[in-house]
Amino acid sequence: MSEAPILRLSNVESAYGPITAIRGVSLDLPRGRIVAVLGANGAGKTTILKTASGVLDPVNGSVELEGRRIERMAPDRIVALGMSHVPEGREIFPFLSVRDNLRMGAYLRRDRASVAADLEKVYGYFPVLRERREQAAGLLSGGQQQMLAISRALMSRPKVLLLDEPSLGLSPLLVKEIFAIVRRLNREEGVSILLVEQNAKVALETADYGYVLEVGRVVMHDASEALMRSDEIRESYLGAHADDGREKGRRNRARPMR
Ligand SMILES: Nc1ncnc2c1ncn2[C@@H]1O[C@H](COP(=O)(O)OP(=O)(O)OP(=O)(O)O)[C@@H](O)[C@H]1O
Ligand SMILES: [Mg+2]
Repeated sequence: MSEAPILRLSNVESAYGPITAIRGVSLDLPRGRIVAVLGANGAGKTTILKTASGVLDPVNGSVELEGRRIERMAPDRIVALGMSHVPEGREIFPFLSVRDNLRMGAYLRRDRASVAADLEKVYGYFPVLRERREQAAGLLSGGQQQMLAISRALMSRPKVLLLDEPSLGLSPLLVKEIFAIVRRLNREEGVSILLVEQNAKVALETADYGYVLEVGRVVMHDASEALMRSDEIRESYLGAHADDGREKGRRNRARPMR
């Protein structure tokens, strides 16, 4: 029980120029678990993942991967240490083939034979990607592009996967399919997962533990079952997001802290 978390953020503050996006954020991802971060538009969810993956250097605080400080490391070094980020909006290479997108995910690896084996493995998880491997990735549907983005991240053989809103813009059926695979990756490959979602329902059904972010701060964290029972969470997060396949709303965007 007392094993150190595989990923730990301690008192992290991150900013975009003068705009502080998250402040005093402390969060643990225990090894082998799925942890969800919930919050409205602009709460700072993406900023947490960018800070963890080295895309953004924090102003304050520390990020530890397996006990090692990584908060000033370059993103590709962090990938090499075993953490891979599936960014918001997927960021696949639309003009490259599906297979070449997947190979890009393995660009740091020299072990060609096992890269080929891992390619087969992701095709096993996502058979549609095998069928469409020669096609330009830009021709895939939104759900297939999300599958490709997750698969590309898997090609670096991560111990930790950072997932930014995998449900975004997908039909309820596809959301179900993708999250079933997320759970399998956790169970069968032992990947620890930090999952950012506005879709609180599917996130809490998937995760062991959840953190709730409001305007850049953690306001609540608990086991997923406890959060699902909480009146506050039910009212603010579970009721309002019953429409799974929604487009991204920008109306209730929280204001940044100054
Ligand atoms: N590149 C940027 N430059 C300036 N401010 C930014 C930038 N990216 C994010 N912010 C601000 O930082 C805050 C947190 O943004 P972040 O993208 O982390 O939120 P989020 O919870 O991921 O929101 P969403 O649900 O819309 O994806 C917001 O106030 C946002 O406007
Ligand atoms: Mg975001």
